[in-house]
Amino acid sequence: MTPQLAESYAELMRQAEGLFTGERDPWANSANVAALVWELLPDLNWAGFYFLRGGQLIVGPFQGRIACVRLALGQGVCGAAAERRDTVIVPDVHQYPGHIVCDAASNSEIVVPLIAHNRLIGVLDLDSPSYGRFGPADALGLEALARRLAASCDWRLAGIDGFGAG
Ligand code: SME
Repeated sequence: MTPQLAESYAELMRQAEGLFTGERDPWANSANVAALVWELLPDLNWAGFYFLRGGQLIVGPFQGRIACVRLALGQGVCGAAAERRDTVIVPDVHQYPGHIVCDAASNSEIVVPLIAHNRLIGVLDLDSPSYGRFGPADALGLEALARRLAASCDWRLAGIDGFGAG
């Protein structure tokens, strides 16, 4: 990890901790995380969430261009990460079978699952106009952020599957 990248993720976590202090609303915290990622990480054209609601991944707070609203589990990069409950890095989305195009400017992508109480909540999805933009250091940084967000919200308030009414 380069020193700049390490510093970007350290700053991301510091600011996220500040945002989560005293606030457990899922929409508020995930909206601010999308804004924070967008502001602090370079070379992105989309950053945001899909949440598991009614058996589908439905778009949540994000920064970037208008996105596809509903994705099936197993569909696209987001659906694959959700189904496997594991981070998926795609260096060239044009080579990924089943990739779902939301913004034609996207050339690479990383999707990190959000898990709380051992249940899938949704995914954090970042797209870049550059090929090979995301590597293992991004996976580690974003997984740490996703864990922190997952632990910092009351998911019952968001109507996430398995967490009660929204
Ligand atoms: N490309 C994603 C769809 C979501 S957008 O990138 C915002 C996918 O294949 O799952």
